Amino acid sequence: MVLWFRSQKSVGNIRRVRICESIHRGKGTGMTDTNRQFVLARHPDGELQESDFTWQEGPIPEPGPGEVLTRTLYLSLDPANRSWINKGGSYRDPVVPGQVMPGFTIGRVVASRYSGLDAGDIVESESGWQDFACLRGDDLYRLDADAPLELWMNVLGLTGKTAYFGLLDIGQPQVGETVVVSGAAGATGSVAGQIAKIKGCRVIGIAGSQEKCDWVRNDLGFDEAIDYKRQDMAEGLRAACPDGIDIYFDNVGGATLQAALLQMRRGGRIVCCGAVSQYDKAKRDPSPAGIPGLLIVRRLKMQGFIVMDHYGRRREAERELLHWVREGRIKYRLDIVDGLENAPRALIGLLHGDNVGKRMIRVAAED
Ligand SMILES: NC(=O)c1ccc[n+]([C@@H]2O[C@H](COP(=O)([O-])OP(=O)(O)OC[C@H]3O[C@@H](n4cnc5c(N)ncnc54)[C@H](OP(=O)(O)O)[C@@H]3O)[C@@H](O)[C@H]2O)c1
Repeated sequence: MVLWFRSQKSVGNIRRVRICESIHRGKGTGMTDTNRQFVLARHPDGELQESDFTWQEGPIPEPGPGEVLTRTLYLSLDPANRSWINKGGSYRDPVVPGQVMPGFTIGRVVASRYSGLDAGDIVESESGWQDFACLRGDDLYRLDADAPLELWMNVLGLTGKTAYFGLLDIGQPQVGETVVVSGAAGATGSVAGQIAKIKGCRVIGIAGSQEKCDWVRNDLGFDEAIDYKRQDMAEGLRAACPDGIDIYFDNVGGATLQAALLQMRRGGRIVCCGAVSQYDKAKRDPSPAGIPGLLIVRRLKMQGFIVMDHYGRRREAERELLHWVREGRIKYRLDIVDGLENAPRALIGLLHGDNVGKRMIRVAAED
């Protein structure tokens, strides 16, 4: 049981909300009346630096009509966070200096002025790099299925659903086909490769270390793995896919996409999921050569997607992914970093490949 006590006191003209949490599992009683946050200090110039963010503390906001106050429990770190803070923006409006760093989170409703949610509910939101946020109730997604929260951040969350819709809807795998996945030991790639195995494909992963290659081959059941930091990519793909690639699930772009394109088989599909090799660069690499000639001659399809476009079917994906996890057909690793204060360092590490599996920040204890 979790008990929430709220009392209010005035500080200047700001009404502050004091929240006492009776924390379970012998963790004692935590108490806070401040909201810790990271705001963007400046648009990064090339590789992300910790100094691109500023730490600040302020009062906990109060929900207005139709809003809820949430407390962040887990913060997702995503390579795309880096592209959001570029001056030019990405698929969403650019973050501007002084703005709280956006981020996907799982949180607990602390107080609600929205009829569809009550205090204690667990919700997925975009509350960003901070402890507390007031959000429109309509923008929140209540997590109902009986599964650990870390799983909701991972296989059942944004990255798992990206793998699901990207591979199944865009890639459309057929039994016996050859599927290549880059970023194979990451949150999205590891699930995409395992779904391809479930669908009866031969799966080759590309990852950045021997440890990662061993994990995807030995534990996740990929057929082969290529360490792109030690092996020539074109040679590795020719050896692993002598008859060509039917589906390339691209998480990284750049030189890996170039090598995979040249090895595509007639009628192949390239699922453009992400381009992590390019996000942290001041100047992007030139595009892979040979497009569109190669696409025409080999009758290839190359399609990008954003997972939220498929959210009308998110419950279907969550149900199926949970079923596969429970059957032991999808395995996962969690890469949990404790403490909001470590978010900038942990994001920089993610962009350099420090993680195996889904990286997230545990901002506060669950109970
Ligand atoms: N389209 C969508 O809606 C959508 C949604 C979610 C995620 N995504 C994309 O999916 C991709 C994976 O995201 P994720 O959250 O699952 O992250 P992740 O794969 O768990 O972590 C990022 C990984 O990228 C790899 N990497 C970093 N620099 C690289 C480089 N220069 N070349 C090749 N690999 C590099 C690293 O692994 P190595 O050690 O193997 O290099 C690192 O572990 C990203 O591109 C992301 O933007 C797209």
